[in-house]
Parts: sequence; structure tokens; C-alpha cells
Amino acid sequence: MIIKVKTDKKTKVLFNFNFKNIEKISKKYNKLILVVDHNVYKYHSSIFSEIEHVIVVEGGENTKTLIESQEIIDKLLKLGADKNSLIIGIGGGVITDLVGFVASIYKRGIPFGFIPTTVLCAVDAAIGGKNGVNQGLIKNCIGTINQPDLILYDYQFFKSLPEVEFSNGFAEVIKYGCICDTELFDYLESYDLQYFIKSPVALQMVVQKCLSIKAKIIQKDPNDNTIRKTLNFGHTIGHAIEKDLNLKHGFAVSIGMIYASQLSILKGEFTRDELERVSELLQKYELPITENVKSSSVLSLITNDKKKNGGSIDFILLKSIGESEIVTLTFDEIKQDFKKIFNGANSLSFA
Ligand SMILES: NC(=O)c1ccc[n+]([C@@H]2O[C@H](COP(=O)([O-])OP(=O)(O)OC[C@H]3O[C@@H](n4cnc5c(N)ncnc54)[C@H](O)[C@@H]3O)[C@@H](O)[C@H]2O)c1
Repeated sequence: MIIKVKTDKKTKVLFNFNFKNIEKISKKYNKLILVVDHNVYKYHSSIFSEIEHVIVVEGGENTKTLIESQEIIDKLLKLGADKNSLIIGIGGGVITDLVGFVASIYKRGIPFGFIPTTVLCAVDAAIGGKNGVNQGLIKNCIGTINQPDLILYDYQFFKSLPEVEFSNGFAEVIKYGCICDTELFDYLESYDLQYFIKSPVALQMVVQKCLSIKAKIIQKDPNDNTIRKTLNFGHTIGHAIEKDLNLKHGFAVSIGMIYASQLSILKGEFTRDELERVSELLQKYELPITENVKSSSVLSLITNDKKKNGGSIDFILLKSIGESEIVTLTFDEIKQDFKKIFNGANSLSFA
């Protein structure tokens, strides 16, 4: 399958890739360099034994930094990587964000690809060309939009994935259902997390569905000016609490989606029944819907959110399940809305 994106690049996607064909896929390049998450390397070390250049990276959110990028760049220089080399990031969203960023800036950009090994990465992070690193508490503060050359799905890597990471990834799957796909939302309602952990075929279908949703959105708006923003549903507050409370990305987004759904009721036609459905679905996939959050720190992190525009921010709200809209809110409005929503205290415990 080829996804055509309105940039100068095409991303080749192989859904049934077998890692043993990695040399074949990279034969047109002068050098293949793998950057592998340390857990992936630990659980699957034997399959990497034939590969000459492997850089193992610690992983985890704290690895997504400029310092780690420089360390990888130093290793690429030592290996003599150039514009005819291929770097492949193998891991979750942390590795693909980091590798995409490094490959985009190293020698002003060299070919790169991903093998996603978490659900979250497979359905979201690996797709769409957003790469980057954090700066302090500010998520994805420094980065590029640059499409990968390859996305290769090899489900053997998922065998070692802890259950909690399946849950983490399904937050983004549920997000797609919420913002633009009622059918997907209904489908997810009829199953639960355990079903997808036990059924790799069903998981594969969901991954393909999510990829096609995200690819369509990105084709229309590769640079995040219009419809692509809807992919940020749940992410404004999600990003703020993710680093502050040290939550998994999907867990933070799950709580963020509850907040955004409540805001959708306040600002428009979204109903309490629909909020209840979103909340039940998140819990079915073993995701949190509440957390102790300090309003002052969230507000200050939100005002630093990279999507802020002067004194306002684009929030993604739901008109109904499967339909979203972009609403620009001033910080004053956000403050007032926070008060209204969280004084009821049936969701986030808001200090
Ligand atoms: N670029 C984008 O469009 C985009 C979209 C969504 C999320 N993200 C980013 O993705 C990151 C989160 O990604 P994530 O949830 O995949 O986290 P992650 O990359 O930290 O992986 C989660 C954990 O799973 C381990 N792991 C990975 N694959 C494994 C496997 N197969 N077996 C055993 N352990 C494995 C990792 O070592 C890590 O401990 C965040 O930084 C987020 O900002 C980016």
C-alpha cells in the first residue's frame, strides 16, 4: 500500500512485513541503521543478531530530548551515515518521534522508516510525519513535520508488549471513533481490551482502520492547519497532565477526552448520554477517566501548549460521537469553563 501525502514524499506501508526481510527492503541504501527501544531489544535480541548497525536507546518519555538526539547523531556520525543511508526506528512512539526527528535534521534529512512495536505507535505515532522531542515539561516543543519513507508492521513484536501498553494504545483508537467514525466507536463498544489482546487478527484490522483514517486526514491537511487539528481531541489537557503527573500518553489523553467531552456539553450539543458512552468505552479498555490534577499547573502548561495562538487555544470538541469541531477559546474562557466543569467534581479532582 502507498499513502500519497501532499508533500514531496510517499510513505510505503507494509502491513504484513516480516523482519527477516529487512535487508531486502533496505538494499537500495548504502547502510541500514536500526535504532531500537531497549525493551524491544531485550525481548527480541536474537532477531537483531545479523544486523551490523544497531543503536539501542533507553526509551521512555524522558528519552525524547535534544540531548538524546545529539547522542544518536554522534553515533550516526561515527557509523558514517549519509543521505544514502536508511535509519529505522523500532519501538513505541518515543522511539519513532525521536528517530523521525533525528533523521529529519541529520545532514538536513536522510531516509527513515519505522517498525512500530506498541499499539499506540502502530495506530498513531508512526503515521503522519510529526516528529520531535520535549523541552522540560513542554511536550513535543521542538520538532519537524516530515513523512517517513517506510512504515513496516510486524506483529511478532507485539507478543512481548505488556497489557497496560495495549490499553494505552486503545485511547488513540477510541479517539478516532470519537472524532470521525461512529462505526468504529460502535464496533469498539461491542468488544473489550482482552478481546484485542487475544486476537492479533482483530488488532491488525483495527490498526489498518486507524491508519486509513489518519492517512485521509493528513492527505487533506499535512501541515496541521485545519482538519488535522481534530486529531488533538483530548490532547490539550492530556499533554498538560502527561508530563506533570508522569502518566502514560494514552492514559493522559483518556482523561483529556473526558474533559473535552464535558467541555463539548458546555459549549454545544454534545449530550450527557454521549459523555457516558465515551466514559464507559474508555473504562472497557481499562483506561483512567479521573486523576488528581492541580488546576493552576494545568492552566500554566496549557498556556504554553504549542497550539496556543496569542491569548487563545484551539480546542477540539465533539458535536456528537463521530463528529468533531475546532473551537477557539480564550484563556479567560478556559479558566471559567474549568471552574464550571470541575466544581461538580464528578470527574477530574480539580484543586
Ligand atoms: N508523532 C505523533 O503523531 C504521535 C502521536 C501519538 C503519540 N506520540 C508520542 O508517542 C509517545 C508514546 O508512545 P508509546 O506509548 O508507544 O510509548 P513508548 O515508546 O515509551 O513505549 C512504551 C513502553 O513500552 C515498551 N515497549 C515498546 N514496545 C515494546 C514491545 N513490543 N514489547 C515490550 N515492551 C515494549 C517501551 O520500552 C516503553 O517502556 C509519546 O511521547 C507521544 O507524545 C506521537
